[in-house]
Amino acid sequence: MSKIYDNVLEKISNSRKVFVPNLTSKLSFLAACENLQKDAKFLDLGCGNGILGIALYKSKKINKIFSSDVSNFAVNNAKKNYKKFKIKNEIKVGNLFEPWKGRKFDYILNDVSAISSLVANRSKWFNNNIPCKAGKDGTNLTIQILKKSKSFLNADGKLQIPILSLSNKKKIIYAAKKNFNKVKSSFSQKWFLPNEMMKIKKNLESYKIKGYINYDYKFNKIICETEIIICEKPK
Ligand SMILES: C[S@@+](CC[C@H](N)C(=O)[O-])C[C@H]1O[C@@H](n2cnc3c(N)ncnc32)[C@H](O)[C@@H]1O
Repeated sequence: MSKIYDNVLEKISNSRKVFVPNLTSKLSFLAACENLQKDAKFLDLGCGNGILGIALYKSKKINKIFSSDVSNFAVNNAKKNYKKFKIKNEIKVGNLFEPWKGRKFDYILNDVSAISSLVANRSKWFNNNIPCKAGKDGTNLTIQILKKSKSFLNADGKLQIPILSLSNKKKIIYAAKKNFNKVKSSFSQKWFLPNEMMKIKKNLESYKIKGYINYDYKFNKIICETEIIICEKPK
């Protein structure tokens, strides 16, 4: 499965103002491969250049992609990629679930920006053109999604969410358990914060003290974690 993702990543086009897929993207793909039922009605929320839906289609997990993103640049980029890979799709521009009023899905893969604004503003992952209004503790958008997803999921539906330690993980898990009957961890991986981010070490420390984010140190470097959770059966 990993090879299929890497192959798509190699061939996909990435516009300048669109998020470049990273480790969270790959972990999100792997988690979806394990938890997505074949031919489920699938929504890629925060689709960026379209990588996750395309890699899942290529893995024969889905036969059509529904996707959206708040960024026009991302939606145009994904449209071109769906055409390039010849994939049946319905794609819309809009904030969170706004484009999908009245629609229901079996599996929602949420990959909407979920990182502390302090980190996003200083990182190479989110430049000025990539929306990330996740707030100081990185939870704003994810918690809205957790609260609203019931209206967009079928009764046995699943919502997939990435949780980065550079957000308030406890707050997200609490909201997940409040809104779903079952919450399980699927994939997780630790990773070093890029060296250039050590410039804002003091700011990061103050955010850590306030509980907005969390991380450890190893070999004098900051070590973070990304975990993908699966929320089943909305309450
Ligand atoms: C971390 S990127 C992931 C993109 C893609 N899934 C990938 O793996 O490369 C987050 C995406 O969420 C989108 N986004 C941010 N805020 C959003 C919102 N309020 N509603 C919908 N999409 C949003 C961004 O434009 C960006 O494309």
